[in-house]
Formats: sequence, C-alpha cells, structure tokens
Amino acid sequence: MKKVLVLPGDGIGPEIVSQAERVLAAVVAKFDLDIETSHGLIGGAAIDATGKPYPEATDAAAKAADAILLGAVGGPKWDALDMAIRPEKGLLAIRSQLGLFGNLRPALLYPQLASASTLKPEVVSGLDLLIVRELTGGIYFGQPRGIRTLENGEREGFNTYVYSESEIRRIAVVAFEAAMKRDKRVCSVDKANVLEATVLWREIMEEVAKDYPEVELSHMYVDNAAMQLVRAPKQFDVMVTGNMFGDILSDCAAMLTGSIGMLPSASLDQAGKGMYEPIHGSAPDIAGQNVANPLATILSVAMMLRYSLGELAAADAIEQAVVAVLDQGLRTADIATKDEQAVSTTAMGDAVVAALNA
Ligand code: IPM
Ligand code: MG
Repeated sequence: MKKVLVLPGDGIGPEIVSQAERVLAAVVAKFDLDIETSHGLIGGAAIDATGKPYPEATDAAAKAADAILLGAVGGPKWDALDMAIRPEKGLLAIRSQLGLFGNLRPALLYPQLASASTLKPEVVSGLDLLIVRELTGGIYFGQPRGIRTLENGEREGFNTYVYSESEIRRIAVVAFEAAMKRDKRVCSVDKANVLEATVLWREIMEEVAKDYPEVELSHMYVDNAAMQLVRAPKQFDVMVTGNMFGDILSDCAAMLTGSIGMLPSASLDQAGKGMYEPIHGSAPDIAGQNVANPLATILSVAMMLRYSLGELAAADAIEQAVVAVLDQGLRTADIATKDEQAVSTTAMGDAVVAALNA
C-alpha cells in the first residue's frame, strides 16, 4: 500500500486538486493500484485553521507518505502577515523539511496548443525542455537574512546567496542523470561574471560533467538565458540552475508552452520520494470560479506515478488522456484562443476521466 498525502492549499488549489484526485481515483480503479490518499493543510488554509503555514501534523503526515500532491499556496488574504508565517513559508518549509532539493520542471509544448503560445508557432513547435531547479538552498534559504536598521536610522534589507559544494554536486547529478535519458545536453545557468557563489557552481558543474562524458555541458549567464528562452528556446535540452534563477526561468519557460496552467513539476529527495505540484500559483483572482486549468495538476499526478510510485503504465495513461482531450478540442480559458469556447475546470476533469475510461 502506497500512501499519498494531498495538500490542496489555497486559491484555485482545492478545485484543481479535486479534479486531479478524480483522475488518480480513475487510474487506481483501472490499473487496480494499491494507493491510499489522505488530506492535510498547508499555506493559508493551515494558517486559518492552526495559525501556522506548515503545522506539525502536516509535517508528520508528509514524512510518513510515499508521495505528496500539492495544489498551490498564498493569496491576498495573508499578504499582510509577517514574512515568517506567510503561506509561502509553508511551501518552503515542506520542501526543506523533506529535503526535496531536486525540482524537475518540464516545459513541453503540446502541438495542439502551438497557437496558444504568445510566441510564433515556428519558435515553439516541438519544444521539449527540462528545467532542473535547486529547491532547498541558495538565496531563498541563505542566512543571514532580514531587514535591519542602520546606525543612520535607515532600514536595509539583506539576503544571502549561498551554495555549498555538496548542494551543487547533488543537483548537478540530477541534471546529468536526466540528460542521459534525454538529448544528453546540459546548460548550466549562473551569473558567474558577478556572483562568487555561482563561480563555484560553474566549477562543480565542470567537475560532475567528467563523470558523464556522453553529456555535453554548456554554461550561460542567467540574463542571456532569459533572452534565449524567448528567442530560440528549442536550443535547450536540460537547463540546471539555482533556486531563484530556476524560479524565474521556469515561469518564463512555462509561458512558451501556451499557458503556465499546463506544466507539472516534481520535487525529489535523494531517495526519489517526491512532492508533485503544478508550477503555477494559487491564482486568487480566478479562485472559486471553476475556470482554472486542472491539467498541470493532473499531469503532476502522472509524474508522481512515474517517479515516486513506480506505476509507469498509469502515468502514461494519464498523459495520453490529456493528449486525447486536447485533440477533442477542449480548452480551459487560459489555453483557448479567441475563437474557441472555454470549458470549466470540472468539465476538463470530466473529459480526462472519460478519456481514461474510454
Ligand atoms: C514556485 C513558487 C514558489 C517559489 C513560491 C510560491 C514560494 O513561485 O514554486 O515557483 O518561489 O518557489
Ligand atoms: Mg515560481
């Protein structure tokens, strides 16, 4: 029996996660899988219920689970809270507590959606890249950090961009291993012309590359990488980068595919245990309206079955069902062109379940 902890979170989180759970239930029935799900609180929902964005009960359940499915956290309701107890802290805490340092963010353009991208179809058609983002280190976690008052009375905000050799080495291994299963090219993104921490990053990438002679390693400064992603994104196979650059570049890469509403992600620990979530946020502006795209979360279930639960056939079936509904012309508002009629979150869920059972 495998245990999946479901953490719907805030905003559109609950509505997209409930569609993803229906899809999970459908593959459990279809493939006779031994998977049990339970639910927990994280983010703003957890703050409202317990005062904390990552309650002990959630931590215990997450540590006991084989995999975690997460919706999204955050929203204007909690924006005025102190940084230390904001919903986003819950997400950072679970990543850090579980040691989920390896974040895989694939950006795949479904041919059916080539016209939904804001970029020209010829620039994005066939796009298939993987961003490997380091998720538990760098400036998002570095100490010291804070806002302090200087002697002259002026306040100063400060953070620390720090990476140890072992942190760089283990994310490099994730990237090179991923590249071995793909086109065997890794582009490491840094800012080694300015930041010492990324000078070391580059050095360790070169070192790890020696263990993967078949993989071609290149380096790119992050500003250029952002430009190249919108200029000629098909040049990339695997991009590996630190926490902050990966956060930014993965939103950018997502948009190449037509909508951030399409992209799943996996965050893995050293042993392959993982948390799975759409890369988009809680979209409070459309929460509760049954218009959000559940496909990124549904595709996150597929990644979970593949990477943490070892159920490859079920993972393939979900991905094929998503292709089938796109072929049928179903589009939520984010991926509908102006001549297309948008369907609701639940209608998209219905269609994926129906395609699975077809
Ligand atoms: C992401 C999100 C989070 C991050 C936020 C919500 C803390 O933007 O998963 O990319 O910055 O990692
Ligand atoms: Mg982000």
